[in-house]
Amino acid sequence: MDEMLKRDLVIIGAGPGGYVAALYAAKRGMKVTLVEKRFIGGTCLNVGCIPTKTLIKAAEVYREAKNARFFGIVTDNVAVDFKRVQERKNQVVKTLVDGTVFLIEKAGIERIEGMARFLSPTVLEIESAAGKVVVQAEHVIIATGAKTKMLPIPGVDLPCVLDSEGLLALAELPRSLAVIGGGIIGMEFAFAFAHLGVKVDVIEALPDILTTADREAVQKLSRFAKQQKINIQTGATVIRIDSLMEEGAEIVYRQNGTDHSVRADRVLVAVGRVPEIVGLGIENAGVLIGMNRGIAVDERMRTNVPSIHAIGDVTNRIQLAHAASRQAIVAVDDILGKDTRMDYDFIPSVLYTSPALAWVGKTEAELLATGVPIRITKSPFGANGRAIIANQPLGFVKLIQNQETKRLIGATVFGDGADEMIATLTVAMQNGLSAAAVAATIFAHPTQSETIREAAAGILGEAIHYNE
Ligand code: FAD
Ligand code: NAI
Repeated sequence: MDEMLKRDLVIIGAGPGGYVAALYAAKRGMKVTLVEKRFIGGTCLNVGCIPTKTLIKAAEVYREAKNARFFGIVTDNVAVDFKRVQERKNQVVKTLVDGTVFLIEKAGIERIEGMARFLSPTVLEIESAAGKVVVQAEHVIIATGAKTKMLPIPGVDLPCVLDSEGLLALAELPRSLAVIGGGIIGMEFAFAFAHLGVKVDVIEALPDILTTADREAVQKLSRFAKQQKINIQTGATVIRIDSLMEEGAEIVYRQNGTDHSVRADRVLVAVGRVPEIVGLGIENAGVLIGMNRGIAVDERMRTNVPSIHAIGDVTNRIQLAHAASRQAIVAVDDILGKDTRMDYDFIPSVLYTSPALAWVGKTEAELLATGVPIRITKSPFGANGRAIIANQPLGFVKLIQNQETKRLIGATVFGDGADEMIATLTVAMQNGLSAAAVAATIFAHPTQSETIREAAAGILGEAIHYNE
């Protein structure tokens, strides 16, 4: 038997769930061990949020440079140097990962590079390049994230068929890209690659893309996609992917009972992500999996085993970095005996397409189905000075108030700047503010955020710059 180390808190996985839990617990005086098998920062920093948004930024800069003449700025011979795009993306990732490693080290957190596996509810075996260690832990937080769901269809293992990580690692821009899945990952990549000049096809199984977002905003976004020559096929099920003699593949899909196909140099599979529990030995710990295939947790992030909490994508409640980080704080608070509970009502979602789409709380469609008495208003960017200056007049802020409680309960922002503007609305909703309270707030001029105040005034029938 290997020597058994004894530790207070062992966290498995160093993504935005695990590393935040580690830093937060260490700041509160706990002795923390952080086990990570691959990369500090997890999916988010290394192959998710950060690299995708860096790529998207490059694509936006290219598009803006090409359109600069509209503003009276002459930019001739604008071109994409994809090698440099990738170098910058890697540099941004490195800066953030190095910063996280620095914080972990400064906080005195013990780091073990290796794969953790439960031997029992309190004993873990960690296998690393240096060998195996066995750790007995008073508390364990599982923060092992999620991995790409692969399609069980012929041809999915062809070299040109990639997941998001593979696509982010491309050395060269393909001429064409087929995206299977019109969800968040699929649509962000579709816009980024289309803006970089790649021909993009999206194949979505459901009758529409982005099913959790506001339908009106998605409709408008789909129109933008068309303008960018992104071809979206909905109600389309991919049956197989055939290799072509030349580079690339032919993607065969069935739509309305008929087979169709598109050809592409590269294929992205983005049909969801599944909790990462393979090899973790949770059966040895007795940890239960829920109906959603994630580790079952309560509102304090407790699993069914008293000494084990689980947070982030592995719980499959909501797969967002900021949700994982909040769950981290809830879990550590619970371990420390503080009564903090996870609240899922106002977690903002942002789709970083161009234009962006952000939402928080309930959508119009969800609320109309419940019968809650609501008032909805929509303040257009077309009436906003800053949006006109930026030549981005086509978006809007949609606000929904519960007319019984007079609380704002839903918001969608569509248009450039939506990603930042949603924060104001999140603060308002999380704190139970009414439209009247937001309308009485003074917003700086000229900013796109003034549209938020205008929308709130619109709920009261007092909008100044647009007619209800
Ligand atoms: P992860 O970040 O996945 O971290 C889990 C870690 O655990 C990994 O590093 C893994 O190596 C490690 N691990 C797993 N098993 C073991 C084991 N047995 N032993 C040791 N270590 C182990 N979310 C957003 O909020 N905004 C975005 O813009 C965004 N963009 C995304 C773009 C893409 C392409 C993808 C794929 C995801 C994106 N996400 C985004 C989702 C976000 O990345 C996740 O929600 C987030 O990373 C979840 O954090 P986590 O800590 O639960 O898991
Ligand atoms: P997703 O659940 O958002 O979308 C998957 C899409 O694929 C759905 O529209 C689904 O109907 C479709 N689909 C499923 N099976 C299919 C099939 N066989 N053929 C065609 N289409 C099919 O999952 P996605 O895009 O993989 O992203 C995973 C998660 O990562 C997201 O839910 C999100 O939480 C997170 N993420 C967040 C981002 C952000 O916050 N900006 C960015 C990227 C990812």
